[in-house]
Amino acid sequence: MRGLLTLHELKEDKIQEIINYALKLKGGFSKKYVGKKMATLFFENSTRTQYSFQVAMMNLGIQVVGFNASVSSVQKGETLYDTVRTFESLGLDGVAIRSSEDNYFEKLKNIKMPIFNGGDGASNHPTQCLLDLMTIYEEYGHFKGLKVCMIGDISHSRVAHGNIDIMQRLGMEVYISGPEEYNDGSAKYMDFDEAIKTCDVIMMLRVQFERHKEKMHMTEAEYFAKYGLDNKRVAAMKDTAIIMHPAPVNRNIEIGDDVVECSKSRIYKQMTNGVYVRMAVISMVLDGDL
Ligand code: CP
Repeated sequence: MRGLLTLHELKEDKIQEIINYALKLKGGFSKKYVGKKMATLFFENSTRTQYSFQVAMMNLGIQVVGFNASVSSVQKGETLYDTVRTFESLGLDGVAIRSSEDNYFEKLKNIKMPIFNGGDGASNHPTQCLLDLMTIYEEYGHFKGLKVCMIGDISHSRVAHGNIDIMQRLGMEVYISGPEEYNDGSAKYMDFDEAIKTCDVIMMLRVQFERHKEKMHMTEAEYFAKYGLDNKRVAAMKDTAIIMHPAPVNRNIEIGDDVVECSKSRIYKQMTNGVYVRMAVISMVLDGDL
């Protein structure tokens, strides 16, 4: 299949190539692909990923074909394959897809048009991981030896699951922290306050209430007191350390209202970098480099 579905199949030097290209695009770009058409087929809610893909497409001169699942034939029982196959038949040059189904793309093996995964279930979110890596690389200029801790709802997080493998492959020391009920053992556990004092990157994760089958075993106030990033914890971070969060944020649950835009926060920079990473990925796929 063409496009970008997961980061597992990409070697570390290819990841670095994408980041370098995204950084180059951040310095200037042209509408290189006028005449091409793409769509974002999102079957799960999104603000950042869907619209950042659209901005990336528009920046490259690609025409964006509108799609809204709630008023499409999906409501008449059309399958994912049939929706995607329809857009391919219409002559599109690629689609970005988000679905709550893990590995949905396995059903799309017959599709020849490039597919850009905008998130599947709790498994993968490759362009989010790339924008996270770009933001870290912009900050430190390297990955090797950096200590990162992801804190919070690990078990429901495709961002955590996608990032752990690639960050380890790039030589980072990766830890997880947060409530026991969301610890799926996907990386070594570190006490939250120990992580605050020692890590270069503190990556807070959203509590994904909409994915929970059982109610959280503590109140939101208790969660914030134990695992929330407040000003007191920010003050205990290393001088050079940064705060990241894929967003949307639950203000005053996993992150304090006044921490979201504090000087250590790179949350809005992550969103900006998302546009350039997606431009890089789309360009490299269209040029046959990915
Ligand atoms: N980070 C992220 O995937 O945000 P959206 O759900 O708004 O796309």
